[in-house]
Amino acid sequence: MNPLIVALDTADLGRLSDLAGAVGPSAGHLKVGLQAFGAHGPAAVEAAAAHAPVFCDLKLHDIPTTVAGAAAAIAGLGVGMLTVHASGGPDMVAAAVRAAPRVRVLAVTVLTSLDDRALARVGQPAAGLQVPRLARLALDAGAGGLVCAPTDVAAVRSAVGPDVVLVVPGVRPAGTGADDQARVATPAEALRAGADHLVVGRPVTAAADPGAAARALAAELGASGRPARA
Ligand code: C5P
Repeated sequence: MNPLIVALDTADLGRLSDLAGAVGPSAGHLKVGLQAFGAHGPAAVEAAAAHAPVFCDLKLHDIPTTVAGAAAAIAGLGVGMLTVHASGGPDMVAAAVRAAPRVRVLAVTVLTSLDDRALARVGQPAAGLQVPRLARLALDAGAGGLVCAPTDVAAVRSAVGPDVVLVVPGVRPAGTGADDQARVATPAEALRAGADHLVVGRPVTAAADPGAAARALAAELGASGRPARA
């Protein structure tokens, strides 16, 4: 199983389709997020799905009935993985899992854009407490895995054990810039810390030759030797 997930963050459907064609052969999944889905909806998923399994990253967070309806609709597009916010609560996570039984429902614990000060302002405990709490809540509700930052992956892995699928964004191949990601790791570091899937966007999509960048990254990941779970 190829651990590389390439994030196709663009509002241009033609560009998304070209990128998917170029990087799809080197990727385990292609990620369609809010920008592409907001601009083109299911057509963005279809364009990506022509080249690799799709990870639909819309981070659902609403009442359980609404999230169940959305998860079922997204599952109907044939995606392999989708995301919900663990902070929506156990009933909401369970509703998504029931509504999309053939899709891996991943739970986002605490957004990596929130530091402890920002969490305090919304009345939440520090990330060191909140991340493991929400991880446990989501898994008990049936989530098929978790999304976590490179800096959290080792702690989350030791808290949840070896069998939980962990998807890690903010990955930067050695020698590339961090863009606006504050807490980054190289692919080898993230895999060593316990990641199963690595989300990489701009280091691949903004490269002069995205296909070559994805091939190089896939080769680097293959060489690291830790197989990802499906
Ligand atoms: O371009 P870059 O590699 O930074 O893209 C990372 C992708 O992962 C983006 O699509 C971003 O929305 C997503 N993501 C993230 N941090 C999270 C969750 C998702 O960067 N905690």
